[in-house]
Amino acid sequence: MPNGSNEGLHVAIIMDGNGRWATRRGLPRVAGHRAGVAAVQRVVERALDLGVRCLTLYAFSSDNWRRPAPEVQSIFWLLRAFLRLETKRLRQRGARLEIIGRRDRLAESVLREIEKAESATAMGRNIHVRVAIDYSSRDAITRAAAGAAAVLEHERVPSAELLATMMMETMNTQSADVDLLIRTGGEKRLSDFLLWESAYAELLFTDRMWPDFGEADLEAALEEFKRRERRFGGVVSVEPQTAVASIGSGL
Ligand code: FPP
Repeated sequence: MPNGSNEGLHVAIIMDGNGRWATRRGLPRVAGHRAGVAAVQRVVERALDLGVRCLTLYAFSSDNWRRPAPEVQSIFWLLRAFLRLETKRLRQRGARLEIIGRRDRLAESVLREIEKAESATAMGRNIHVRVAIDYSSRDAITRAAAGAAAVLEHERVPSAELLATMMMETMNTQSADVDLLIRTGGEKRLSDFLLWESAYAELLFTDRMWPDFGEADLEAALEEFKRRERRFGGVVSVEPQTAVASIGSGL
């Protein structure tokens, strides 16, 4: 069956293409990240209007530490500015903001802005916006497995449910399975993002660079999602009447 409304959906986005967007315009890469923040603002607003329940954005992977220090600094500068300037708006719109990923390698100044933004928006019920920073899905799974081993003591095999719970605990979040995963920028890979949570996610890859991604692109992605048939490993459900009629007519 095709999927109905956007209500309750978890949409995750790998925001790729900022650097190329800037380079093609003869601009420094940081200009692409700045334009990327504007795209984040547009997409959060539209997701709210469309009734998306959870939006998870991949802003900085654990592997991104390998980038030149000035680029890393500018990404964190933009992130801090985003948190400082957007928190009020997010709170007004009933959005709950949460940062997922490791926190032990983040600068004090970043941590302070994160904590302020999270507590100011903690009561938001209209959308759950999660920004992944210093995030690695393999790291999250490994930590969850270690947590599960500590809980189980003598039993050897943790259940998938226990691992999922431990993953949410170690990530300090309550959101789980992804319904739709979008990657901009033309590459077709998951880059260590929400690997466990995307087991049955519908994947959508677009050539659009992240700074060019707008409201209409999100709408088009959700329309495409609705056309997909999700079976979760089962079979297409057929109404009993139709099934009998089909058998009777030899179809
Ligand atoms: C990928 O493009 C983008 C990033 C690694 C950084 C994303 C950061 C932002 C959009 C700004 C901060 C985020 C928030 C939520 C305020 P790339 O640089 O890998 O692009 P390329 O593949 O073209 O080089």
